[in-house]
Formats: sequence, structure tokens, C-alpha cells
Amino acid sequence: MLGQNWQHAPLPGAFPHLPAPVSQATGENLMPLVTFIQPDGISMAIDAPLGMSVMQVATQNAIAGIIGECGGACACATCHVHIDPPWVERLPAPTSQESEMLEFSSDVKDNSRLGCQIRITDDLDGLLVYVPASQG
Ligand code: FES
Repeated sequence: MLGQNWQHAPLPGAFPHLPAPVSQATGENLMPLVTFIQPDGISMAIDAPLGMSVMQVATQNAIAGIIGECGGACACATCHVHIDPPWVERLPAPTSQESEMLEFSSDVKDNSRLGCQIRITDDLDGLLVYVPASQG
């Protein structure tokens, strides 16, 4: 069953020496937790900074299989991901440009999205992102 191999990892991105910000009132983590799940079931949960894209969170944390070749310009589809179905409706709908770009990807499903087009918000705490077996 998915989720049994969860490994909580600190963000080793821009400020790896700093802990994730916490609420002074409650002590709760203020960063949404996003979990990337590889085709073999191995997963990594990451504290995702608000405003970053799912692609940026993945590439800054060396998530295998998410490349982000165009840097987020919606021009390469190497950030193709499968969103956990319960989360699909909770995300903003893809733009026509994103939908057109996805047509060039392999293994496209109803829950396919480009990670560079999904911005991290508070509402995405708990998001599950499946990495396709291959890009391109
Ligand atoms: Fe190129 Fe997302 S990073 S389309």
C-alpha cells in the first residue's frame, strides 16, 4: 500500500541549514508537505516552500524522474507528474498551453499535470505526486 514507506526529509534546497518555519503560536510546521512517489513505491515527503512549483520542489530535492528542462516555461514536459486522484479537482485547472504540452508526453493519464504549472499553496498540504516511469 502506498504511503507505508514514507520518509520525511528536510528541504535541502536554498537554506538546508535552517529548519522549516514553524508557527510561533502553535509550533506547527508552516510549509505544506508534498510527497513524491516513485514508480517502485519509494516515496519522499518534502516541506515545500509556498510559491514554489512542484517541479522546483522536486528538482531542488533531487527527486528522480522530474527534470524540468525548460526551467518552468511550460515548453518541455519533462516535469510531467501524475497527481493523486483525490487532489486533481483541488488544483487549478490546467491552461490550454499546459494541456497542449502534455500531448507530447508519454504515459499521459486523466490525472497528468506539469509540475512546473502547480504552485505550492497552503491548500496543497498533503499533496501526493506520482512520478511517471519515464519522461518524454
Ligand atoms: Fe518544462 Fe515544466 S519544466 S514544461
